[in-house]
Amino acid sequence: MSQALFAPAGLEGVVVGPTRLSNVEGKIGRLTYYGYDIHDLAPNAHFEEVVYLLHFGELPTRSQLDGLRAKLAEHRDLPPAVVAMMKSLPKDSWPMDVLRTSISMLSQFEPHNHDGAHTSDEDAATKLIAKTPTIVAAWDRVRRGLEPVPPRAEYDAAANFLWMRTGEEPHGVAVKALDMYLVLHCDHSFNASTFAARCTASTRADIYAAVTTAVATLEGNLHGGAPSEVMHMLEGIGTKDKVEPYVREILRRGERVMGIGHREYKVRDPRAQHLEAQAKALGIANGDTHWYDLAVTLEQTAVRVLQEEKPDRSLYANVDFYSAPMLSSLGIPSDEFTCMFACGRMVGWTAHVLEQLAHNRIFRPQAEYTGPTDQRWVPIDLR
Ligand code: COA
Repeated sequence: MSQALFAPAGLEGVVVGPTRLSNVEGKIGRLTYYGYDIHDLAPNAHFEEVVYLLHFGELPTRSQLDGLRAKLAEHRDLPPAVVAMMKSLPKDSWPMDVLRTSISMLSQFEPHNHDGAHTSDEDAATKLIAKTPTIVAAWDRVRRGLEPVPPRAEYDAAANFLWMRTGEEPHGVAVKALDMYLVLHCDHSFNASTFAARCTASTRADIYAAVTTAVATLEGNLHGGAPSEVMHMLEGIGTKDKVEPYVREILRRGERVMGIGHREYKVRDPRAQHLEAQAKALGIANGDTHWYDLAVTLEQTAVRVLQEEKPDRSLYANVDFYSAPMLSSLGIPSDEFTCMFACGRMVGWTAHVLEQLAHNRIFRPQAEYTGPTDQRWVPIDLR
């Protein structure tokens, strides 16, 4: 019998399974999707090409890409009942709660087998990748008392999302920034939400159940909830002269600078430089670089002060840091930032679920029992 291993807190350093999808090399700050460096993909690949890469293991030819684009465009519409459900919700419902409920509800409109499971395959994955941005854009409008704008088949995902939010022709700089944002968020190995999706899939629960788990897990502010909090920090700071006192005060209170630090990366997150460049480009295009400029000052100050106060830690900007000024410059409200993360990560979640199912064994770790022992039943009136 193999000896039980004791995993460190947070499973740090524990390899829980293989994946061919993406590789995070935290010490040198490298991220690859199927062997392609993120620095090669970010400026060159469109989101749809990365969807193909992560789902089929190679870059698409032009005709393969056209086929995938057509399929994604075909599946963007939501079942009317999902939109009706959104309209029945309180207008102050949290966007991530609405996304989680809507994703779960989508399964009701797909055929299921005799025991209620839906087919977990590339078709289901394509539908989920296509519909997630439609849900986010629809709720953005419904909560403002507006009708959802129907998707347009001639647009790719990024342009279509911006169109569905506003009903206006999207600007080229905005489309490019959002397309790159989605590419950068597609996958990141066994992060918490992806691991959660794989755990759910490992029980042979279907792909809808697995990605509903993933959306729920993404929500927390140590994971996908961080960019909203970066925006709250920037709003709370307001001007550059207040940055350093703010950073010192939150560290004094034992709180964290959001968007800084990463379990894997001990250098600056390789995605940050691309998001920073897009935040700057959008600020310039909008004629307002205030949030970008403030974010640059906050990053420089936070890294310097953290080096002083926690010299044994390596704390640098992560993917969420520049996502905040970038998404804000696109006009997206901060409480929808985590939903935007989900639009990109749906690609990875679905690919991981299918990879898990291809070589499945149920995840069933052990726990170290630390509770009381040898207790004896006491009748209720004697307690
Ligand atoms: N600000 C201040 N201190 C931080 C910090 C931050 N952003 N991130 C980590 N630290 C400190 C912790 O306080 C702890 O210090 P201590 O041992 O002196 O108490 C140490 O660094 C290790 O933190 P720990 O939570 O064990 O690291 P982790 O690997 O489990 O956590 C994160 C990684 C991402 C959860 C963490 O860096 C964090 O909370 N960052 C802010 C939230 C965020 O941006 N999340 C998105 C991640 S992509």
